[in-house]
Amino acid sequence: MMEITTKGIDEFVVNVLSEVGRSLIIDTTKNKLVDTKKNRNDLVTNFDKSTEQFVVSMIKEAYPEATIVSEEGFGDDVQSMDGLVFFVDPIDGTMNFVKRGDDFASMIGVYLDGEPFIGGIIDVMRKKIFHGGPNYGIFCDNEKINLPENKALIDGLIDISAPMALNNYLNTQEVVKNSSGLRVYGSAGIIFEHLLLGKEVMYMSYLAPWDLAAGRVLCEGAGLRVASVDDTPVNMLKSQVVIAGTQNVVSEVLKTVKNCD
Ligand code: IPD
Ligand code: CA
Ligand code: CA
Repeated sequence: MMEITTKGIDEFVVNVLSEVGRSLIIDTTKNKLVDTKKNRNDLVTNFDKSTEQFVVSMIKEAYPEATIVSEEGFGDDVQSMDGLVFFVDPIDGTMNFVKRGDDFASMIGVYLDGEPFIGGIIDVMRKKIFHGGPNYGIFCDNEKINLPENKALIDGLIDISAPMALNNYLNTQEVVKNSSGLRVYGSAGIIFEHLLLGKEVMYMSYLAPWDLAAGRVLCEGAGLRVASVDDTPVNMLKSQVVIAGTQNVVSEVLKTVKNCD
C-alpha cells in the first residue's frame, strides 16, 4: 500500500481524475448505452460503469487496504468509516452528460478515520480540477484558490434541487425569496465548484454519500460549512438532505427550514 500522506493522496486523486477527464471528453462524442435506475430521470450509462471500474481498480492497486463506497456497485459494502475510505462518483450529472455534453463532473472524496482528508472534483468539459483538503489547502489545478467570502443570503445566488424548490420542501421557497436568486445546475460537483469560487453561496439537495464526499472535504477546507438539515453531524454512510454554503448563509437557512411546519 502506498504511504498515506495528504500530498500522496492528493496527487493520486488528481492523476486519476485527469485520466478520467481525458476519457470522458472523448466519451461525450460516442454513442452511449443509457439505462434508468430508480426512475426515468435517474440515468446510468456504460461510461458511468467503465469510469467507476477504472477508478476502483486504480484505488485497489495503490491503496489495497482502503475501502470504497461507489455509486454503480463496483466498490465495497462499507459499514464503517475506520481507516482510509474512498468515495467515488464516476460521472456526477449523468443527465447533463447525456442531454447536454457539459456541466458534469467526476468526484473522489477521501476520509481517514471518519475525518475529511482529501477531495477532488473535475469539471470535465472546462478541464479544471478542484482538489485538496482541510490540512493541505484547496487548489484549482496548481493554484491555491482565493477562499470564498462569508456572504449573506441576500447577497448571493443559491442552488436547490428542482424537486425540493418546486414542492417548497422545508420552506425552500422562502429561502429563495431571501436570496439573490435560484439556479439549478443538475450536478452536485459543478455546484460545489461554484461555492468554492464564490459564484453561489448555498446548495441544498438530497445527496448520496458519493454526491457529497468530495464536495464536503473541499468546502470545509475552504472555510465553508456543510450541515445536515436538522444540524446533526453529517453521516457519510447514508443519504440525506444537506446544506452547504457560507457560514452566514447556512446558519440563516437552518433557521428558516427549522421554522417550517
Ligand atoms: C445527481 C446530481 C444532481 C443531484 C442528484 C444526484 P448523478 O448525481 O448530482 O445534481 O441533484 O441528487 O443524484 O446521479 O448524476 O451522479
Ligand atoms: Ca453518478
Ligand atoms: Ca452524483
